[in-house]
Amino acid sequence: MTRKLYIETVGCQMNVLDSELVVGSLRRQGYELTHEPTEADVILFNTCSVRQHAEDKIYSALGSLRSHKKRYPSKIIGVLGCMAQKDQELIRRRAPHVDVVCGTGQLARLPELIAEVERTGKPQLALSLDRKAAARPEVERSFESYDPMRDPSMRPSRYQAYVRIMIGCDKFCTYCIVPKVRGPEQSRHPEHIATEVRQLAAEGCKEVTLLGQTVNSYKYDLGDGRRSWLSDLLARIHDTAGIERIKFITNFPRDMSDDLLDAIRELPKVCPYLHVPAQSGCNEVLKHMKRLYTVEYYREMLARCRERVPGVAISSDFIVGFCGETEESFQRSCDLVASAGFKNSFIFKYSPRPGTKGDELYVDDVPEEVKKRRNNDLLAIQNEVSLADHLARVGQTVEVLVEGPSKTALKSGWTSGPIQLTGRTRTDHIVVFEGNERLVGQTVQVVVEEATAFTLFGSVVTNEQLGVDRKVVAEQLDAKALAGRERMSLPLL
Ligand code: 5AD
Ligand code: SF4
Repeated sequence: MTRKLYIETVGCQMNVLDSELVVGSLRRQGYELTHEPTEADVILFNTCSVRQHAEDKIYSALGSLRSHKKRYPSKIIGVLGCMAQKDQELIRRRAPHVDVVCGTGQLARLPELIAEVERTGKPQLALSLDRKAAARPEVERSFESYDPMRDPSMRPSRYQAYVRIMIGCDKFCTYCIVPKVRGPEQSRHPEHIATEVRQLAAEGCKEVTLLGQTVNSYKYDLGDGRRSWLSDLLARIHDTAGIERIKFITNFPRDMSDDLLDAIRELPKVCPYLHVPAQSGCNEVLKHMKRLYTVEYYREMLARCRERVPGVAISSDFIVGFCGETEESFQRSCDLVASAGFKNSFIFKYSPRPGTKGDELYVDDVPEEVKKRRNNDLLAIQNEVSLADHLARVGQTVEVLVEGPSKTALKSGWTSGPIQLTGRTRTDHIVVFEGNERLVGQTVQVVVEEATAFTLFGSVVTNEQLGVDRKVVAEQLDAKALAGRERMSLPLL
Protein backbone atom coordinates (compact mmCIF):
# COMPACT_ATOMS: atom_id res chain seq x y z
CA MET A 1 0.00 0.00 0.00
CA THR A 2 1.21 3.53 -0.73
CA ARG A 3 2.60 5.32 2.27
CA LYS A 4 1.30 8.81 2.90
CA LEU A 5 3.37 11.88 3.66
CA TYR A 6 2.35 15.19 5.21
CA ILE A 7 4.71 18.15 5.38
CA GLU A 8 4.27 21.58 6.92
CA THR A 9 6.74 24.31 6.10
CA VAL A 10 7.41 27.55 7.94
CA GLY A 11 10.07 30.11 7.21
CA CYS A 12 11.89 31.34 4.19
CA GLN A 13 12.14 30.46 0.52
CA MET A 14 15.12 28.23 1.35
CA ASN A 15 12.77 26.12 3.48
CA VAL A 16 10.14 26.07 0.74
CA LEU A 17 12.79 24.72 -1.61
CA ASP A 18 14.04 22.17 0.94
CA SER A 19 10.48 20.89 1.43
CA GLU A 20 9.95 20.62 -2.32
CA LEU A 21 13.12 18.53 -2.58
CA VAL A 22 12.29 16.36 0.44
CA VAL A 23 8.84 15.58 -0.97
CA GLY A 24 10.35 14.85 -4.39
CA SER A 25 12.84 12.37 -2.95
CA LEU A 26 10.27 10.64 -0.73
CA ARG A 27 7.88 10.37 -3.66
CA ARG A 28 10.55 8.54 -5.59
CA GLN A 29 10.50 6.06 -2.68
CA GLY A 30 6.78 5.53 -3.19
CA TYR A 31 5.28 8.10 -0.81
CA GLU A 32 2.17 10.03 -1.77
CA LEU A 33 1.47 13.53 -0.47
CA THR A 34 -1.59 14.19 1.71
CA HIS A 35 -2.85 17.50 3.08
CA GLU A 36 -4.32 15.89 6.19
CA PRO A 37 -1.73 15.18 8.94
CA THR A 38 -3.83 12.51 10.62
CA GLU A 39 -4.04 10.55 7.35
CA ALA A 40 -0.28 10.45 6.96
CA ASP A 41 2.15 7.69 7.88
CA VAL A 42 5.00 10.21 8.00
CA ILE A 43 4.38 13.72 9.36
CA LEU A 44 7.17 16.23 8.80
CA PHE A 45 7.68 19.80 10.01
CA ASN A 46 10.26 21.86 8.17
CA THR A 47 11.06 24.53 10.70
CA CYS A 48 12.38 28.07 11.11
CA SER A 49 14.33 29.60 13.98
CA VAL A 50 14.59 33.21 12.87
CA ARG A 51 11.99 34.38 15.40
CA GLN A 52 10.53 32.79 18.54
CA HIS A 53 7.04 32.92 17.07
CA ALA A 54 7.98 30.43 14.32
CA GLU A 55 9.30 27.98 16.92
CA ASP A 56 6.22 28.33 19.12
CA LYS A 57 4.03 27.40 16.18
CA ILE A 58 5.93 24.16 15.66
CA TYR A 59 5.87 23.16 19.34
CA SER A 60 2.15 23.78 19.40
CA ALA A 61 1.63 21.66 16.25
CA LEU A 62 3.78 18.91 17.75
CA GLY A 63 1.79 19.10 20.99
CA SER A 64 -1.47 18.58 19.17
CA LEU A 65 -0.09 15.38 17.62
CA ARG A 66 0.85 13.81 20.94
CA SER A 67 -2.36 11.82 21.44
CA HIS A 68 -2.47 10.88 17.74
CA LYS A 69 0.99 9.33 18.03
CA LYS A 70 -0.08 7.49 21.20
CA ARG A 71 -3.00 5.96 19.31
CA TYR A 72 -0.96 5.17 16.22
CA PRO A 73 2.60 4.52 17.47
CA SER A 74 3.80 3.39 14.05
CA LYS A 75 3.29 6.85 12.60
CA ILE A 76 6.55 8.72 12.18
CA ILE A 77 6.92 12.35 13.22
CA GLY A 78 9.93 14.31 12.02
CA VAL A 79 11.30 17.79 12.72
CA LEU A 80 13.54 19.10 9.94
CA GLY A 81 15.49 22.25 9.26
CA CYS A 82 16.73 25.16 11.33
CA MET A 83 15.01 24.37 14.61
CA ALA A 84 16.19 20.77 14.39
CA GLN A 85 19.77 21.93 13.96
CA LYS A 86 19.47 24.52 16.73
CA ASP A 87 17.58 22.64 19.43
CA GLN A 88 18.54 19.05 18.74
CA GLU A 89 17.83 17.01 21.89
CA LEU A 90 15.65 19.77 23.37
CA ILE A 91 12.99 18.93 20.77
CA ARG A 92 12.92 15.33 21.94
CA ARG A 93 12.69 16.51 25.54
CA ARG A 94 9.80 18.88 24.84
CA ALA A 95 8.12 16.51 22.38
CA PRO A 96 9.26 12.96 23.16
CA HIS A 97 6.93 11.56 20.49
CA VAL A 98 9.18 12.99 17.75
CA ASP A 99 10.99 10.19 15.89
CA VAL A 100 13.32 12.09 13.56
CA VAL A 101 15.32 15.27 14.12
CA CYS A 102 17.17 16.25 10.95
CA GLY A 103 19.16 19.47 10.43
CA THR A 104 19.32 21.57 7.26
CA GLY A 105 22.67 20.11 6.26
CA GLN A 106 21.55 16.49 6.61
CA LEU A 107 18.34 16.36 4.59
CA ALA A 108 19.82 13.93 2.07
CA ARG A 109 19.75 11.31 4.84
CA LEU A 110 16.04 11.70 5.57
CA PRO A 111 14.74 8.62 3.66
CA GLU A 112 17.37 6.49 5.41
CA LEU A 113 16.43 7.95 8.83
CA ILE A 114 12.75 7.18 8.29
CA ALA A 115 13.61 3.63 7.24
CA GLU A 116 15.78 3.26 10.35
CA VAL A 117 12.91 4.34 12.64
CA GLU A 118 10.66 1.81 10.90
CA ARG A 119 13.28 -0.92 11.31
CA THR A 120 14.35 -0.27 14.88
CA GLY A 121 11.52 1.77 16.39
CA LYS A 122 14.24 4.06 17.79
CA PRO A 123 14.42 7.83 17.32
CA GLN A 124 17.00 9.11 14.83
CA LEU A 125 19.04 12.29 15.01
CA ALA A 126 21.04 13.71 12.05
CA LEU A 127 22.77 17.00 12.63
CA SER A 128 25.65 19.02 11.30
CA LEU A 129 28.53 20.10 13.49
CA ASP A 130 28.28 23.25 15.57
CA ARG A 131 30.43 26.01 14.03
CA LYS A 132 32.73 25.93 17.04
CA ALA A 133 32.94 22.15 17.30
CA ALA A 134 35.67 21.61 14.70
CA ALA A 135 37.89 23.25 12.09
CA ARG A 136 36.02 25.06 9.29
CA PRO A 137 36.56 22.41 6.55
CA GLU A 138 35.10 19.74 8.79
CA VAL A 139 32.11 21.91 9.77
CA GLU A 140 31.60 22.77 6.08
CA ARG A 141 31.54 19.10 5.13
CA SER A 142 28.88 18.45 7.78
CA PHE A 143 26.58 21.02 6.12
CA GLU A 144 25.80 19.41 2.79
CA SER A 145 24.02 21.47 0.14
CA TYR A 146 20.84 19.52 -0.47
CA ASP A 147 20.25 19.48 -4.20
CA PRO A 148 18.78 16.17 -5.33
CA MET A 149 16.85 15.70 -8.58
CA ARG A 150 14.03 18.16 -9.14
CA ASP A 151 10.46 16.94 -9.57
CA PRO A 152 8.29 19.36 -11.58
CA SER A 153 5.07 18.12 -9.99
CA MET A 154 6.33 19.21 -6.57
CA ARG A 155 6.74 22.86 -7.42
CA PRO A 156 4.00 25.34 -6.50
CA SER A 157 4.18 26.47 -10.14
CA ARG A 158 5.54 24.63 -13.20
CA TYR A 159 6.77 27.90 -14.58
CA GLN A 160 8.74 29.18 -11.60
CA ALA A 161 11.44 27.56 -9.51
CA TYR A 162 13.90 28.34 -6.76
CA VAL A 163 17.50 27.35 -7.33
CA ARG A 164 19.95 27.24 -4.46
CA ILE A 165 23.27 28.78 -5.38
CA MET A 166 24.81 28.83 -1.92
CA ILE A 167 24.19 27.71 1.62
CA GLY A 168 25.03 29.22 5.01
CA CYS A 169 26.14 32.69 6.03
CA ASP A 170 29.37 34.20 7.32
CA LYS A 171 28.08 37.65 8.25
CA PHE A 172 27.12 37.03 11.88
CA CYS A 173 24.67 39.90 12.35
CA THR A 174 24.26 39.89 16.12
CA TYR A 175 20.48 39.26 16.12
CA CYS A 176 20.56 36.41 13.62
CA ILE A 177 20.57 32.66 14.20
CA VAL A 178 21.10 31.74 10.53
CA PRO A 179 24.93 31.42 10.57
CA LYS A 180 24.54 28.92 13.41
CA VAL A 181 21.75 26.81 11.98
CA ARG A 182 22.67 26.94 8.29
CA GLY A 183 26.41 26.81 8.83
CA PRO A 184 29.35 28.36 6.98
CA GLU A 185 28.81 30.15 3.67
CA GLN A 186 29.47 27.76 0.77
CA SER A 187 28.75 28.45 -2.87
CA ARG A 188 27.73 25.73 -5.32
CA HIS A 189 29.75 25.01 -8.44
CA PRO A 190 28.49 27.21 -11.30
CA GLU A 191 28.28 24.24 -13.64
CA HIS A 192 26.01 22.33 -11.23
CA ILE A 193 23.76 25.38 -11.01
CA ALA A 194 23.74 25.81 -14.80
CA THR A 195 22.82 22.13 -15.23
CA GLU A 196 19.95 22.47 -12.78
CA VAL A 197 18.66 25.57 -14.57
CA ARG A 198 18.83 23.73 -17.93
CA GLN A 199 16.85 20.84 -16.45
CA LEU A 200 14.24 23.21 -15.04
CA ALA A 201 13.94 24.96 -18.41
CA ALA A 202 13.51 21.60 -20.15
CA GLU A 203 10.59 20.93 -17.79
CA GLY A 204 8.89 24.17 -18.83
CA CYS A 205 10.19 26.53 -16.17
CA LYS A 206 10.38 30.16 -17.31
CA GLU A 207 11.50 32.00 -14.19
CA VAL A 208 14.26 30.99 -11.82
CA THR A 209 14.94 32.69 -8.50
CA LEU A 210 18.46 32.07 -7.26
CA LEU A 211 18.60 31.63 -3.49
CA GLY A 212 21.27 32.48 -0.95
CA GLN A 213 21.20 34.10 2.49
CA THR A 214 23.57 36.69 1.06
CA VAL A 215 23.14 35.79 -2.58
CA ASN A 216 25.33 38.59 -3.89
CA SER A 217 28.26 37.28 -1.84
CA TYR A 218 28.25 34.23 -4.17
CA LYS A 219 31.81 33.29 -5.04
CA TYR A 220 33.12 30.00 -6.33
CA ASP A 221 36.81 29.26 -6.49
CA LEU A 222 37.31 27.53 -9.84
CA GLY A 223 40.63 26.15 -8.67
CA ASP A 224 42.80 27.65 -11.44
CA GLY A 225 43.16 31.04 -9.80
CA ARG A 226 39.83 32.20 -11.25
CA ARG A 227 36.69 32.95 -9.28
CA SER A 228 33.10 32.93 -10.41
CA TRP A 229 31.01 35.77 -8.91
CA LEU A 230 27.26 36.25 -9.08
CA SER A 231 27.68 38.47 -12.15
CA ASP A 232 29.56 35.60 -13.89
CA LEU A 233 26.92 33.10 -12.83
CA LEU A 234 24.11 35.29 -14.19
CA ALA A 235 25.94 35.56 -17.53
CA ARG A 236 26.49 31.80 -17.54
CA ILE A 237 22.84 30.85 -17.09
CA HIS A 238 21.43 33.79 -19.03
CA ASP A 239 21.26 32.08 -22.41
CA THR A 240 19.48 28.96 -21.16
CA ALA A 241 16.77 28.37 -23.77
CA GLY A 242 13.29 28.66 -22.28
CA ILE A 243 14.30 30.76 -19.27
CA GLU A 244 12.74 34.20 -19.56
CA ARG A 245 13.41 35.69 -16.14
CA ILE A 246 16.16 35.41 -13.57
CA LYS A 247 15.69 36.83 -10.07
CA PHE A 248 17.87 36.42 -6.97
CA ILE A 249 17.36 36.94 -3.24
CA THR A 250 18.53 38.10 -0.64
CA ASN A 251 21.28 40.69 -1.09
CA PHE A 252 23.70 41.99 1.50
CA PRO A 253 24.22 45.78 1.15
CA ARG A 254 28.01 45.66 1.41
CA ASP A 255 28.34 43.11 -1.41
CA MET A 256 26.38 45.05 -4.04
CA SER A 257 29.24 45.36 -6.52
CA ASP A 258 29.20 47.53 -9.65
CA ASP A 259 30.00 44.37 -11.58
CA LEU A 260 26.74 42.83 -10.44
CA LEU A 261 24.71 45.97 -11.13
CA ASP A 262 26.19 46.18 -14.63
CA ALA A 263 25.26 42.53 -15.24
CA ILE A 264 21.66 43.22 -14.17
CA ARG A 265 21.47 46.15 -16.56
CA GLU A 266 23.14 44.37 -19.48
CA LEU A 267 21.47 40.95 -19.26
CA PRO A 268 17.87 41.34 -20.39
CA LYS A 269 16.54 38.24 -18.63
CA VAL A 270 17.86 39.38 -15.25
CA CYS A 271 15.02 41.25 -13.56
CA PRO A 272 15.56 44.78 -12.24
CA TYR A 273 14.49 43.88 -8.73
CA LEU A 274 16.70 43.86 -5.63
CA HIS A 275 15.81 42.83 -2.12
CA VAL A 276 18.50 44.51 0.03
CA PRO A 277 17.60 44.56 3.74
CA ALA A 278 18.65 47.72 5.61
CA GLN A 279 17.45 46.44 9.06
CA SER A 280 17.74 49.92 10.63
CA GLY A 281 18.20 53.56 9.70
CA CYS A 282 20.32 54.36 12.76
CA ASN A 283 24.09 53.99 12.77
CA GLU A 284 24.24 53.17 16.47
CA VAL A 285 21.76 50.31 16.01
CA LEU A 286 23.47 49.12 12.82
CA LYS A 287 26.71 48.97 14.77
CA HIS A 288 25.12 46.90 17.53
CA MET A 289 23.62 44.69 14.88
CA LYS A 290 27.12 44.34 13.34
CA ARG A 291 25.71 45.00 9.89
CA LEU A 292 29.10 46.30 8.68
CA TYR A 293 27.74 49.48 7.06
CA THR A 294 26.41 52.89 8.01
CA VAL A 295 23.13 54.39 6.87
CA GLU A 296 25.13 56.81 4.69
CA TYR A 297 26.76 53.83 2.97
CA TYR A 298 23.36 52.21 2.52
CA ARG A 299 21.86 55.33 0.95
CA GLU A 300 24.87 55.66 -1.36
CA MET A 301 24.45 52.01 -2.34
CA LEU A 302 20.76 52.63 -3.17
CA ALA A 303 21.74 55.60 -5.34
CA ARG A 304 24.35 53.46 -7.11
CA CYS A 305 21.75 50.71 -7.78
CA ARG A 306 19.36 53.26 -9.29
CA GLU A 307 22.03 54.95 -11.35
CA ARG A 308 23.45 51.73 -12.79
CA VAL A 309 20.12 49.91 -13.20
CA PRO A 310 17.55 52.43 -14.38
CA GLY A 311 14.04 51.52 -13.23
CA VAL A 312 15.23 49.03 -10.60
CA ALA A 313 12.72 48.25 -7.83
CA ILE A 314 14.19 47.80 -4.37
CA SER A 315 12.67 46.21 -1.29
CA SER A 316 13.99 45.94 2.25
CA ASP A 317 13.69 44.34 5.69
CA PHE A 318 13.66 46.20 9.00
CA ILE A 319 13.86 45.05 12.60
CA VAL A 320 12.18 47.30 15.15
CA GLY A 321 12.85 47.23 18.88
CA PHE A 322 16.38 45.89 18.68
CA CYS A 323 18.30 46.18 21.97
CA GLY A 324 18.99 49.83 22.78
CA GLU A 325 16.74 51.22 20.02
CA THR A 326 15.55 54.60 21.36
CA GLU A 327 12.66 56.66 19.97
CA GLU A 328 15.33 58.72 18.27
CA SER A 329 16.98 55.75 16.61
CA PHE A 330 13.57 54.40 15.58
CA GLN A 331 12.80 57.80 14.04
CA ARG A 332 15.89 57.35 11.86
CA SER A 333 14.42 54.11 10.50
CA CYS A 334 11.21 56.02 9.79
CA ASP A 335 13.22 58.67 7.95
CA LEU A 336 14.96 56.03 5.86
CA VAL A 337 11.70 54.31 4.92
CA ALA A 338 10.03 57.64 4.16
CA SER A 339 12.80 58.70 1.80
CA ALA A 340 14.31 55.54 0.28
CA GLY A 341 11.47 54.71 -2.11
CA PHE A 342 11.30 51.00 -1.31
CA LYS A 343 8.76 49.04 -3.32
CA ASN A 344 7.92 47.29 -0.06
CA SER A 345 9.53 46.42 3.25
CA PHE A 346 9.15 43.46 5.56
CA ILE A 347 9.12 44.68 9.14
CA PHE A 348 9.86 42.46 12.12
CA LYS A 349 9.80 42.94 15.86
CA TYR A 350 13.14 41.96 17.39
CA SER A 351 13.03 38.46 18.82
CA PRO A 352 16.03 37.50 20.96
CA ARG A 353 17.62 34.27 19.78
CA PRO A 354 19.63 32.25 22.31
CA GLY A 355 22.92 31.35 20.69
CA THR A 356 23.41 34.74 19.02
CA LYS A 357 25.85 37.48 20.05
CA GLY A 358 22.95 39.93 20.38
CA ASP A 359 21.30 37.76 23.00
CA GLU A 360 24.58 37.27 24.82
CA LEU A 361 25.75 40.90 24.81
CA TYR A 362 22.65 43.08 24.95
CA VAL A 363 19.47 43.39 26.96
CA ASP A 364 16.16 43.03 25.11
CA ASP A 365 15.10 46.35 26.60
CA VAL A 366 12.31 47.54 24.29
CA PRO A 367 8.92 46.49 25.71
CA GLU A 368 6.64 44.38 23.51
CA GLU A 369 3.98 47.16 23.23
CA VAL A 370 6.64 49.57 22.02
CA LYS A 371 7.89 47.05 19.47
CA LYS A 372 4.31 46.56 18.28
CA ARG A 373 3.70 50.29 17.97
CA ARG A 374 6.96 50.85 16.11
CA ASN A 375 6.15 47.96 13.81
CA ASN A 376 2.75 49.47 12.97
CA ASP A 377 4.15 52.97 12.56
CA LEU A 378 6.94 51.89 10.24
CA LEU A 379 4.54 49.74 8.24
CA ALA A 380 2.17 52.70 7.86
CA ILE A 381 4.99 54.83 6.45
CA GLN A 382 6.07 52.05 4.09
CA ASN A 383 2.47 51.56 2.94
CA GLU A 384 2.28 55.20 1.94
CA VAL A 385 5.54 54.89 0.04
CA SER A 386 4.36 51.66 -1.63
CA LEU A 387 1.08 53.30 -2.62
CA ALA A 388 2.95 56.23 -4.18
CA ASP A 389 5.22 53.79 -6.03
CA HIS A 390 2.16 51.87 -7.27
CA LEU A 391 0.17 54.96 -8.26
CA ALA A 392 3.12 56.16 -10.32
CA ARG A 393 2.70 52.98 -12.38
CA VAL A 394 -0.93 53.61 -13.28
CA GLY A 395 -1.13 54.11 -17.03
CA GLN A 396 2.02 52.08 -17.71
CA THR A 397 2.03 48.80 -19.59
CA VAL A 398 3.89 46.09 -17.67
CA GLU A 399 5.03 42.58 -18.54
CA VAL A 400 3.42 40.02 -16.25
CA LEU A 401 4.30 36.34 -15.82
CA VAL A 402 0.88 34.88 -15.03
CA GLU A 403 1.02 32.73 -11.89
CA GLY A 404 -2.57 31.53 -11.60
CA PRO A 405 -6.12 32.37 -10.58
CA SER A 406 -6.44 34.84 -7.71
CA LYS A 407 -7.63 33.47 -4.38
CA THR A 408 -11.01 35.07 -4.99
CA ALA A 409 -11.31 33.30 -8.32
CA LEU A 410 -10.46 29.96 -6.71
CA LYS A 411 -13.02 30.51 -3.96
CA SER A 412 -15.76 31.59 -6.32
CA GLY A 413 -16.29 28.05 -7.62
CA TRP A 414 -15.47 29.20 -11.12
CA THR A 415 -15.57 26.48 -13.81
CA SER A 416 -14.88 28.13 -17.16
CA GLY A 417 -14.45 31.46 -18.94
CA PRO A 418 -12.35 34.48 -17.97
CA ILE A 419 -11.33 34.81 -14.33
CA GLN A 420 -9.23 36.99 -12.07
CA LEU A 421 -5.59 36.12 -12.50
CA THR A 422 -2.49 37.22 -10.63
CA GLY A 423 1.13 37.45 -11.64
CA ARG A 424 4.22 39.52 -11.11
CA THR A 425 6.07 42.09 -13.15
CA ARG A 426 9.80 41.96 -13.79
CA THR A 427 10.13 44.42 -10.88
CA ASP A 428 8.27 41.93 -8.64
CA HIS A 429 5.06 43.97 -8.41
CA ILE A 430 1.88 41.92 -7.90
CA VAL A 431 -0.70 42.49 -10.64
CA VAL A 432 -4.35 41.37 -10.72
CA PHE A 433 -6.28 41.35 -13.96
CA GLU A 434 -8.91 39.34 -15.81
CA GLY A 435 -8.18 36.74 -18.42
CA ASN A 436 -8.54 33.17 -19.55
CA GLU A 437 -6.93 30.49 -17.39
CA ARG A 438 -4.89 29.35 -20.39
CA LEU A 439 -2.77 32.45 -19.83
CA VAL A 440 -1.23 30.82 -16.72
CA GLY A 441 2.49 30.39 -17.34
CA GLN A 442 2.54 32.97 -20.13
CA THR A 443 3.96 36.45 -20.09
CA VAL A 444 1.36 39.03 -21.03
CA GLN A 445 1.30 42.80 -21.34
CA VAL A 446 -1.02 44.43 -18.81
CA VAL A 447 -1.98 48.08 -18.71
CA VAL A 448 -2.15 49.26 -15.07
CA GLU A 449 -5.41 51.05 -14.29
CA GLU A 450 -5.66 51.18 -10.49
CA ALA A 451 -3.49 50.52 -7.45
CA THR A 452 -3.52 49.87 -3.72
CA ALA A 453 -0.44 49.76 -1.47
CA PHE A 454 -0.08 46.03 -2.19
CA THR A 455 -1.49 45.42 -5.64
CA LEU A 456 -1.64 46.81 -9.16
CA PHE A 457 -4.87 46.24 -11.12
CA GLY A 458 -5.09 46.28 -14.87
CA SER A 459 -6.24 44.71 -18.11
CA VAL A 460 -4.42 42.46 -20.52
CA VAL A 461 -3.68 44.65 -23.49
CA THR A 462 -5.39 42.31 -25.94
CA ASN A 463 -8.09 40.92 -23.67
CA GLU A 464 -11.67 42.04 -23.26
CA GLN A 465 -12.70 43.68 -19.99
CA LEU A 466 -14.98 42.00 -17.43
CA GLY A 467 -16.63 43.54 -14.38
CA VAL A 468 -15.07 42.46 -11.10
CA ASP A 469 -15.30 43.90 -7.61
CA ARG A 470 -11.75 45.18 -7.34
CA LYS A 471 -12.08 46.32 -3.77
CA VAL A 472 -12.91 42.81 -2.61
CA VAL A 473 -9.92 41.39 -4.50
CA ALA A 474 -7.70 44.11 -3.05
CA GLU A 475 -8.73 43.33 0.50
CA GLN A 476 -8.20 39.62 0.02
CA LEU A 477 -4.83 39.99 -1.65
CA ASP A 478 -3.68 42.46 0.95
CA ALA A 479 -4.61 39.96 3.66
CA LYS A 480 -2.69 37.31 1.75
CA ALA A 481 0.35 39.58 1.49
CA LEU A 482 0.26 40.17 5.23
CA ALA A 483 -0.10 36.50 6.01
CA GLY A 484 2.75 35.71 3.63
CA ARG A 485 4.86 38.27 5.45
CA GLU A 486 4.66 36.24 8.64
CA ARG A 487 5.13 32.93 6.92
CA MET A 488 7.79 33.78 4.43
CA SER A 489 10.12 35.33 6.92
CA LEU A 490 13.05 35.22 4.75
CA PRO A 491 12.98 37.09 1.77
CA LEU A 492 15.83 35.03 2.15
CA LEU A 493 16.56 35.02 4.47
N1 5AD B 1 14.31 39.06 15.29
C1 5AD B 1 13.53 39.69 14.39
N2 5AD B 1 13.74 39.66 13.07
C2 5AD B 1 14.82 38.97 12.64
N3 5AD B 1 15.31 38.78 11.40
C3 5AD B 1 16.39 38.00 11.49
N4 5AD B 1 16.64 37.70 12.78
C4 5AD B 1 15.68 38.30 13.51
C5 5AD B 1 15.40 38.37 14.90
N5 5AD B 1 16.16 37.77 15.80
C6 5AD B 1 14.70 39.39 10.21
C7 5AD B 1 15.69 40.24 9.42
C8 5AD B 1 15.94 39.42 8.20
C9 5AD B 1 14.59 38.75 8.05
C10 5AD B 1 14.53 37.60 7.18
O1 5AD B 1 14.25 38.38 9.35
O2 5AD B 1 15.05 41.44 9.06
O3 5AD B 1 16.32 40.18 7.09
FE1 SF4 C 1 23.47 36.40 7.50
FE2 SF4 C 1 21.30 37.79 6.75
FE3 SF4 C 1 21.39 36.62 9.18
FE4 SF4 C 1 22.91 38.76 8.69
S1 SF4 C 1 20.64 38.71 8.68
S2 SF4 C 1 23.58 36.85 9.69
S3 SF4 C 1 23.44 38.45 6.54
S4 SF4 C 1 21.41 35.57 7.19
